[in-house]
Amino acid sequence: MTQRPHSQRIYQQLCQVIPGGVNSPVRACKSMGQMPLVVDHAYRDLVIDADGHQYIDYCGSWGALIHGHAHPTILEAVRKRMEKGTSFGITTALEGEIAQEIIQLIDSVEKIRFVSSGTEATMSVTRLARGFTKKEIVVKFSGNYHGHADFFLVQAGSGLLETSPTASSAGIPEDIVKHTVCLPFNDLEACQKLFTHPEYRHRIAAVILEPIAGNMGVVPADSKFMQFLREETEKMGALLIFDEVMTGFRVAKKGAQEIYPVRPDLTCFGKIIGGGFPAAAFGGRRDIMDCLAPLGTVYQAGTLSGNPLAMEAGLQSLRLLQQPGFYEELARKTALLVEPIKARIAEKGWNACVQQSGSMFTLFFGKKQVRNLQEALETDTSLFAHFFRTMFAKGIYVPPSAHEAWFISSVHEDRHLEKTRDAVLEFMEEAYA
Ligand SMILES: Cc1ncc(COP(=O)(O)O)c(C=O)c1O
Repeated sequence: MTQRPHSQRIYQQLCQVIPGGVNSPVRACKSMGQMPLVVDHAYRDLVIDADGHQYIDYCGSWGALIHGHAHPTILEAVRKRMEKGTSFGITTALEGEIAQEIIQLIDSVEKIRFVSSGTEATMSVTRLARGFTKKEIVVKFSGNYHGHADFFLVQAGSGLLETSPTASSAGIPEDIVKHTVCLPFNDLEACQKLFTHPEYRHRIAAVILEPIAGNMGVVPADSKFMQFLREETEKMGALLIFDEVMTGFRVAKKGAQEIYPVRPDLTCFGKIIGGGFPAAAFGGRRDIMDCLAPLGTVYQAGTLSGNPLAMEAGLQSLRLLQQPGFYEELARKTALLVEPIKARIAEKGWNACVQQSGSMFTLFFGKKQVRNLQEALETDTSLFAHFFRTMFAKGIYVPPSAHEAWFISSVHEDRHLEKTRDAVLEFMEEAYA
């Protein structure tokens, strides 16, 4: 095992002052059975820990860094911007520039508002949907993550409609989750049952989903399922919300909306639109967006919303990914890693699969296909933990959970992707021998 004395000392100190030593639980690597990575710095596709060890990074700040770490164009622009002041709490032209950029790229977005995190975006968009429709129920799907607002932290009730969902975290009153319905992903029948239920049908404000779920590992929605949700929400007078915090500008230039011929009413963005800084947004139909204060009666606000450094980084990030050939090259790099793994799995008949959309993918062990949370939970998580530790020891950092996506950036080097491919295949040959 790699010796990490400095990291260990820092981590111990962190644990004294920060619960679990981390500011977001997955970083603790708890189920991976080893001490978390303690980063000192990063550049391009590499992170370097406090002991000077180098790792090829497939976390990429959980998908935010499509251009890799410390991209010179983004750094230079932010440096210049910083000299003009770091935060005003007053409006700037820059916010209009990035808004224009997104509106011009995403057809369904006519107006947009910026916030500082994906959680804020999904929380605010739900308030807006409820305010606009004057209905209270929000429908979500198991295994889809929409940040940590109270009403999203639910587990599906066992009898679907007979039992209310229960909170998946302590500290959430029952009263709050009773307006959330959580259904199995990709399950048309369960949706049908809810949407035709006389007690529910007229009370549904919105259906929110990750069109290509990334938070149970990569699990795309079936096209039929998506089409059905669009048609039924329209009939019920409910809104369809795409949570594209992860998929936006990641799975394709126009995100999941380029892949599915479905136009949501509202969309949430995050990660890539901040270019590595804290920015997120929600946007969509003009008539709905204009219900937000100060025009309308749905309140929403933020001291650091539209922060100039985050807006500058985001704007540069969006401009870089519109350069000709950007997504083609990203696809080539991703294929270099995943295609040989897919081919070997097929050739050897291993009980595993790679599920991919654009430059995000998950390698699942112990299942040949994953279509929903139930199936994701049936994958071999202890083999994954062993895999994580094996990769880590070789200087390869994969997201520390069996149910997360890996992300490729435009600056992943071919030789690093090839090294990773070989390490993965070697591990699988041994594990499945
Ligand atoms: C699809 C999705 N929605 C919302 C969020 C929450 O975003 P944040 O962590 O910025 O609050 C995430 C975070 O990973 C996400 O993947």
